Amino acid sequence: MTASGPGPSTIPLVPLNNGRSMPQVGLGTWPLNDEQAAAAVREAAVAGYRSFDTAEKYGNEQGVGAGLAATGLSRDELFVTTKLDGKFQGHDRALVGVQDSLRRLQLDHVDLLLIHWPLPARDQYVNTWRTFEKALADGLTNAIGVSNFKMAHLHRLLAETDVIPAVNQVQLSPYSAREQIRSFDRDHGIVTQSWSPLGAGSDLLGSSVLTDIAGRIGRSPAQVVLRWHVQLGLAVIPKSSNPDRLRENIDLFDFHLTDEQMQAIATLDQGESAARDSDLEGH
Ligand code: A2P
Repeated sequence: MTASGPGPSTIPLVPLNNGRSMPQVGLGTWPLNDEQAAAAVREAAVAGYRSFDTAEKYGNEQGVGAGLAATGLSRDELFVTTKLDGKFQGHDRALVGVQDSLRRLQLDHVDLLLIHWPLPARDQYVNTWRTFEKALADGLTNAIGVSNFKMAHLHRLLAETDVIPAVNQVQLSPYSAREQIRSFDRDHGIVTQSWSPLGAGSDLLGSSVLTDIAGRIGRSPAQVVLRWHVQLGLAVIPKSSNPDRLRENIDLFDFHLTDEQMQAIATLDQGESAARDSDLEGH
């Protein structure tokens, strides 16, 4: 089973601030193990996904790499993201961490390299970013970005380093709409990418606001949520290892939510406290 069959993916690209672009929808792979990740990547590629998100901490980079190799797609058709774990933050350690990730992924470069969490108490993310700038210049990645960064963390990168992050990947769903960081990212040319866009672990998909809209427009609650992200201009990485859901989660581009429906979904926001606090948490 290869992904080189029917036509190119219909997933739109979002422009990044370095002249490159990224598919708006990608496959999240946490908490899949190597074997599950390899199968999900292969299945997703057949469904039309071209963007795949992993991290050192997920422990599945090898599986993602094996899945990518089995797709039959060429390297330039793929967009691969990985994240550097906290144990590799710091000047020299960061380079070792990136090289280890590339080896597990069987790639000579990724498309997007993220600092997984800021870990401000350790105060290593600025040093790590300088190593990322070098990794970018050396072609180990096509773009660099961050994950779980708040405004204070981004302010430091903007003030003390040269390259503006291309992406800030944050926990974001209708329960945790993160309006402040979204608008900061937008003002600075940083693409916001939502992790746990379906609110994994919560009862979001069963909420009556979503099931009502879904029933009215003949779509699933998950599609309504993902369409909400898309209409806000966000990139998303829903995770599924179920082939039907994988297809459903990219079938988002032939319907539209009305302003009224977008506003109804906005009422679900429970504020910043519904998201993990990256001043205190992370790895
Ligand atoms: P599964 O892998 O069995 O499909 P998130 O991306 O927000 O982290 O959410 C992931 C969770 O949502 C997983 O438990 C996944 O389960 C489930 N999920 C993914 N896509 C859908 C969908 N279209 N409908 C319902 N649940 C979904």
